[in-house]
Amino acid sequence: MTLKNKKILFIVGGGISAYKSLDLIRLLQKNSVSIKTILTKSGKEFVTPLSIAALTKNKVYEDIFNKNNEAEIDHISLSRWADLIVVLPTTANFMTKLSIGKAEDLATTVLLASNKDILLVPAMNVRMWLHKATQKNVKILQDYGYHFVGPQKGEMACGEYGEGKMSSPRQIFSYLKNYFNRKNIVKNKNFKALVTTGPTREYLDPVRYISNESSGKQGYELALALKKMGIKTTLVVGPSNLNFSKDLKIKKVISANNMLDEVKKLLPVDIAICAAAVADYSPVKKNKNKIKKDATNLSLIKLEKNPDILDFLGKNNKHRPKIVVGFSAETENIIFNSKSKMKNKYCDLMIANDVSKKGTGFNSDYNKVAIIHKNGKIQNIKKNKKSYIANMVAKIILDKLLMNDKNIN
Ligand code: CTP
Repeated sequence: MTLKNKKILFIVGGGISAYKSLDLIRLLQKNSVSIKTILTKSGKEFVTPLSIAALTKNKVYEDIFNKNNEAEIDHISLSRWADLIVVLPTTANFMTKLSIGKAEDLATTVLLASNKDILLVPAMNVRMWLHKATQKNVKILQDYGYHFVGPQKGEMACGEYGEGKMSSPRQIFSYLKNYFNRKNIVKNKNFKALVTTGPTREYLDPVRYISNESSGKQGYELALALKKMGIKTTLVVGPSNLNFSKDLKIKKVISANNMLDEVKKLLPVDIAICAAAVADYSPVKKNKNKIKKDATNLSLIKLEKNPDILDFLGKNNKHRPKIVVGFSAETENIIFNSKSKMKNKYCDLMIANDVSKKGTGFNSDYNKVAIIHKNGKIQNIKKNKKSYIANMVAKIILDKLLMNDKNIN
């Protein structure tokens, strides 16, 4: 059973739909889920601690300072205990608090101190949901890695109709089943991934090189997103100024040939994403000493083609990753050129990005991409943070991997 013995920490917020948390708790209990609950001050206006305690058979946490439990720091221990935290209902006000990192009570402090996935279940009036301030918060929270279920369209408690209605306990229940199902599969299958990112440097002499503008950010975010899903991920990165998380396995390389060597060492993997801006050419001869100003014939630096790492992975007979993903940096005919690269390099997905415009792509925190599938389907993703795009792409990749995997139940 997918949900058996899973541990969920509920934060019950202050909204009319708070009463539905009781139905959901009952459903989960029937499926042997352990539940602990934090009831916010405004949540208490809608449900009583007694009704939750009776259902969960656990005490309900309300205060940040618990005099009866000195040995435990509740805001840390509660988050560490849980497999997942669910905030239900998530009000517009609560989203604002989360988006600015408030830690004013037990609920907000637990969430700020959490190292677990957090699921928000919004419920509010349609105007409040569609308000620019709320939509801005949604983007910020998605960027922080919060997950959302709903809201749905429908008639609300206030009598108005539109988007803002909380997902039903059944809908949340199936979301949770699917979430834990995927987690279990990823864990059992022990999926591995490699991601290349950053530029490469092709040296002419000890101090000069050919390189490009790539920061490595998009590939880094992708590696973080895959890792967060429980996939063992290694980032192979060319010279980059980013401060990488210590939690991520990183292999630093310089040239295209170094990068290929590291990639070969990491095989076999289930997923390979080539986000690196690999230099296409390198000098045939690398001077041992610095080339002097008076050297002649400098206009005739001879270049040779570098190995194509994506092509090597896509056409690899022995260890072809189950999913091979390429990036395609283009300034014109973006989709056409990307499609032909995808075909030539045997990729399963191609992420096309327009590098002609300032403010997205190379060296920016933002990107605007089109995801091209093998069957010709194209998903356009509006300009957004690279972390957001990474989470989306990682989810699509995992879906594909799970679909390919015949042993999935
Ligand atoms: N790539 C690679 N090794 C190379 C060149 C490119 O792995 N030597 C990968 C990139 O990481 C990217 C994809 O191939 O995933 C496409 O790279 P891009 O620079 O857009 O295209 P190229 O194939 O190099 O072709 P061109 O420069 O002519 O557009």
